[in-house]
Amino acid sequence: MRLNINGRDLEVSDSVGEKKLITFLREDLDLTGAKNACDIGACGACTILVDDEPVKICIKRVKDVAGHRVLTIEGMAAPDGTLHPLQQAFVDRGAIQCGFCTPGMVLVAHAFLLKQPHPTRDEIRKAIHGNLCRCTGYQQIIDAIEEAAAHYRGAPAPAQEARL
Ligand code: FES
Ligand code: FES
Repeated sequence: MRLNINGRDLEVSDSVGEKKLITFLREDLDLTGAKNACDIGACGACTILVDDEPVKICIKRVKDVAGHRVLTIEGMAAPDGTLHPLQQAFVDRGAIQCGFCTPGMVLVAHAFLLKQPHPTRDEIRKAIHGNLCRCTGYQQIIDAIEEAAAHYRGAPAPAQEARL
């Protein structure tokens, strides 16, 4: 079956298709941004985007994303390491503490801002409601998403999708 991960196509066997998606990304492709924290689809730490929609992948198999476009946090920054403006806003606003929730938060926010580049703070809160931050840094996370929204208005910075 065919996968498209961060802009690159790859072909995998049916047996690989049965693997847990988060295990495949982390252990086979070394894409370790997505975290497996709860393993039951409850916390959002494992969130990636599939066709620009957030998906919690601790409860998914590789075959579930065959034929779809997958974006992980590794696909957001440019190949030279330059952060996407949304990632930079998280850094600038101090929205990262332990960082465990951050990849999922950034990707959920990216999907949200692609659809709603003029968000209210309440809309941002609702957009990230499925992603838990144990460090309780929500205020700074909302600040970062609100600030980054400017980059999605008019000429949104695309995810770079350049790394595997
Ligand atoms: S690790 Fe997947 S939702 Fe918590
Ligand atoms: S920054 Fe630690 S869980 Fe969110």
